[in-house]
Amino acid sequence: MSMIEFQNVTFSYEAGKPVLKDLTFAVEKGESVGLIGANGAGKSTIMKLIPGLLDSMGRVRVDGISVGKDTAAEVRKKVGFVLQDPDSQMFMPTVLEDMIFGPMNYGLTKDEAVAKADRILAEMGLSDLRNRHNHRISGGEKKMAAIATILAMEPEAVIMDEPTASLDPYNRRTVINMIRSRSETKLIASHDLDMILDTCSRVILISGGVLAADGPAERILRDRALLEANRMELPLSYAGRASDPDR
Ligand SMILES: Nc1ncnc2c1ncn2[C@@H]1O[C@H](COP(=O)(O)OP(=O)(O)OP(=O)(O)O)[C@@H](O)[C@H]1O
Ligand SMILES: [Mg+2]
Repeated sequence: MSMIEFQNVTFSYEAGKPVLKDLTFAVEKGESVGLIGANGAGKSTIMKLIPGLLDSMGRVRVDGISVGKDTAAEVRKKVGFVLQDPDSQMFMPTVLEDMIFGPMNYGLTKDEAVAKADRILAEMGLSDLRNRHNHRISGGEKKMAAIATILAMEPEAVIMDEPTASLDPYNRRTVINMIRSRSETKLIASHDLDMILDTCSRVILISGGVLAADGPAERILRDRALLEANRMELPLSYAGRASDPDR
């Protein structure tokens, strides 16, 4: 059974203007899949459909469960999500309180949840953020805190929308290393194609709400013509290669 499955999914924010059109794909358990495409292609919309933050025509399934109002709680237990705008998902006053809220809801004692949060904060080099107020930290710090919060839940799958946007190079590398070290199923939307190349074995390219390509990361991210036709560029690690015929 696939971890995430879209079957003929069409979605419109405004009637008559679909932004996802008859989209069908699946992410298997344990896979790491990059979701790429130009601004407005539909990546965040796809991400929001998975935990049921939006409601579509067609079927979205998580581990076989059809996503809908009655299943949202069950689905969110399986899938941790980091949204493009971290503000929209922090609701406790401090970073630590946000991090222990989910795990305590799922049955950990406060001490256990705090110990786990502290471990992840330390691993991510974020211990200084522990008692900071969520609305008085920087954009990049919020992104890091949101990622730490999701990892503390130990979900079966994580979906991350632009996890490295607004991160400095050191934090970006920390996040890449965290992603690489975890075995959950992952779906990662980003314009940071070098990060996608470092973390994902498969890439799905979305263009105008339809699936434009789906295949091995090493093939799609090397395809200069395909990327440029979709308003993207080769990752730096490929663009710099002497073997690149266009250089
Ligand atoms: N709340 C909304 N109401 C109406 N239209 C929206 C809304 N959110 C997004 N859209 C439109 O839906 C389309 C897909 O947007 P989406 O946010 O999924 O794109 P994206 O691929 O995540 O882009 P980006 O790379 O800029 O994050 C765009 O045309 C966008 O203008
Ligand atoms: Mg987006």
